[in-house]
Amino acid sequence: MLQDLTPQPKDKILMLMEMFKEDPREQKVDLGVGVYKNAQGVTPVMRAIKTAEEHLWETETTKTYTGLAGDPAFTGGMRDLVLDGVVPADRVAAAATPGGTGAVHQAFDLVRMASPEARIWVSDPTWPNHLSILKHLDIPFSAYRYFDNETRAVDFEGMLADLKTVNAGDVVLLHGCCHNPTGANLTLPQWKEVAQILNERGAIPMIDIAYQGFGDGIEADAAGTRHIVSTCPEAMIAASCSKNFGIYRERTGVLMAIQPDASKTATAQGTLNHLNRQNFSFPPDHGARLVSMILADDALKADWMAELEEMRKSMLANREALAAELRRLTGSDRFGFIAQHRGMFSRIGATPEQVVEMREKHGIYMVGDSRMNIAGLNDESIRVLAKAIADVGV
Ligand code: LMR
Repeated sequence: MLQDLTPQPKDKILMLMEMFKEDPREQKVDLGVGVYKNAQGVTPVMRAIKTAEEHLWETETTKTYTGLAGDPAFTGGMRDLVLDGVVPADRVAAAATPGGTGAVHQAFDLVRMASPEARIWVSDPTWPNHLSILKHLDIPFSAYRYFDNETRAVDFEGMLADLKTVNAGDVVLLHGCCHNPTGANLTLPQWKEVAQILNERGAIPMIDIAYQGFGDGIEADAAGTRHIVSTCPEAMIAASCSKNFGIYRERTGVLMAIQPDASKTATAQGTLNHLNRQNFSFPPDHGARLVSMILADDALKADWMAELEEMRKSMLANREALAAELRRLTGSDRFGFIAQHRGMFSRIGATPEQVVEMREKHGIYMVGDSRMNIAGLNDESIRVLAKAIADVGV
């Protein structure tokens, strides 16, 4: 039996990580996987996380199981961080999951359970693992237009036209902020139009929010999500703590299922618990506990927010410096979109051949669709990258 297994396609982002490690050149630049790095190229443990870990080490007296949905202090803390009370808490069922990916997986599984014929609509393009998990779970999906390859901005007209064709009961997956892989995002008025169409069509929004605080700030980045849940009767939200708390390997995320009225919440909660039990039983607790400690303590929370803001500003500074260097080198403003994009990524619009050329000639590693991780840059690599982009003729 096991000998009949066939090779699975490798994840393109993770494959790039391996290639980068194996490249012996000293002058190489990793703009692949979405991990924040400071100017020294280090992914730091955030100060508030270290403080919470020390405190936890001193005070934790047991490692026995938590609940199937994780600790309510974590799920409640994350609900408030993302939703800020725009819907009553008694309409929100929530369960901790292994990372944001775990939350996405559980959300898809929930859709399959609630409505096996529902189609899930994803942006074109979207995070490749969305597609991979949908295929793995054998869930039907379609793409709606999202990114205009010419302007490198949101193709909002195309998006609306496609969303007007979704069927009642279909699920529309939206990126809450910091769109991955493009970096092009909806404005709040655009979110409002999207919410209106979803309601007209009877479609259910699912929001993947993995970068809250990396775009325009912790509140601004949740504004679209908050508008959706306050105007649509039902919604699902998959939120990740990997990036904004910098706890990637701790696998900390949460899935929220928002019901039209509180009488339905207990059944949704029971279903989330059931799905956790079937897929992995209890969710990981360490990262979730650190997050809940930070969110419950004013001083720790203020320190976490201050450091997150430093990270956000450093990514913004990288964007502006790269756009300026490209303006200087090319004598045109056609890369101005890099400073307009938000979050960790920008898709710069290079062809797959140009991406390979930048890797082979200049040691620059970006995903094949020309998504680059802005946080992987510093003053020196900005110059190297700008030269490479101009050199290969993007
Ligand atoms: C990414 O898109 O690079 C991140 O979300 C990491 C991952 O798991 O792919």
